Amino acid sequence: MNGFDFDIDYVREQFPCLCKTVNGKPAAFLDGPGGTQVPRRVVDRISDYLYYRNANAHGCYKTSKETEALHSEARETFAAFFNCKPEEVAFGESSSGNNFKLALALVRDMKPGDEVIITDIDHECNRSPWRTLQEHGIIVKSVKIDLETYTLDIEDYKSKLSNKTKVVAINWASNATGTVTDVKTMIEMAHAVGALTVIDAVHYAPHKVIDVKNIGTDFLICSAYKFFGPHVGVVYAKAEVLDKVRTIRVLADDNTMVPEKFETGTPNFESICGCAGAIDFIADLGSKHEKYFKEQLTGLSGKRKQIVAGMLAIDTYEEPLAKKLRKELSNIEGITIYGPPEGYERTSTVSFTIAGKNSNDVAKFLAERGIYVWDGDFYAIEITNHVLKLGSQGGLVRVGLAPYNTIDDIERTIKAVSDFCKL
Ligand SMILES: Cc1ncc(COP(=O)(O)O)c(C=O)c1O
Repeated sequence: MNGFDFDIDYVREQFPCLCKTVNGKPAAFLDGPGGTQVPRRVVDRISDYLYYRNANAHGCYKTSKETEALHSEARETFAAFFNCKPEEVAFGESSSGNNFKLALALVRDMKPGDEVIITDIDHECNRSPWRTLQEHGIIVKSVKIDLETYTLDIEDYKSKLSNKTKVVAINWASNATGTVTDVKTMIEMAHAVGALTVIDAVHYAPHKVIDVKNIGTDFLICSAYKFFGPHVGVVYAKAEVLDKVRTIRVLADDNTMVPEKFETGTPNFESICGCAGAIDFIADLGSKHEKYFKEQLTGLSGKRKQIVAGMLAIDTYEEPLAKKLRKELSNIEGITIYGPPEGYERTSTVSFTIAGKNSNDVAKFLAERGIYVWDGDFYAIEITNHVLKLGSQGGLVRVGLAPYNTIDDIERTIKAVSDFCKL
């Protein structure tokens, strides 16, 4: 984008951990898809809650009422993040935990022979809960990947959809390849046969704008620790759908309150406060950069406008860095990058292998140079180990960007990978 000037110094100042060095070099945290660093304000919100407001909900006294107010405020903040109503936001321990809860709730109204569609590109978080339903006689089918483009094979999806399909669980962005899936089209197709849809936005949420109204999904899951927050899973559940779902909960006979019926036990209030702080950090970035996105922000106002601007700023900043990384890594002999071709929508996550080398050795070599990347299958087990069959060489090396990464982080990574290849 012409003239776009991202305030990287401001961003980096927010993250105390970026002062860390390894052998005299600043640590390059390129492990965002595993979990980002946390800005000071998130930790401040958590400690403020624990120091001054810590209580259980529904008491008669002040700190208990403050706890309820903060819980409600966090729902409002995430409603602006998702573009939904506050009563459509629920918090839980993790996305995996939330998805198991959802699967175990939905199966209560399914019968043997009903079908669920999952995909080969998904993290096990959006496969295992559904695969577990096979024990209830549910048939689970998985959509194949087109390896020319690293996108889902829509013809294969169509062939698996039928009026027996009750749930379609799809990943919005792959934490292994960075592929962004056209979930809107797939959701429309699922709804046409009467199926409910569950979108795993865990890897999408840190990089792109979420608009649940636009895609029309019934459920969406994401994890705040992937976008500057603490370890909490957040769910969007369409109110009229959640209203009918018989969730599993402590008050087994009370299945009325939306969205509380999805929150089992005492919520992790301190972390929920931290999650709201993470979204406020994104909104703050938005306020600083909204002048660059006037057209995309038309018709938006308030916090939603700031959040959208913040996510657009993050995406606009990360994309050229990721492009440079893809381009220069692919020029190094022996490197294969696994992801969609240039021109396809994708996240800033870049995964690769080096011919004849174990990915774990690459990650260790980079770690010694202060470059933190992941290696392995990242629980995207089907694509990494079974489709690409990379298990025996240690899976993939994954470099994942966050908005606090710099051009220097990228150049050091390219140089270190190139040095490794010369060993
Ligand atoms: C795409 C994707 N989905 C789901 C998950 C699981 O999230 P959680 O750790 O909150 O269960 C991850 C975590 O890496 C992920 O990358």
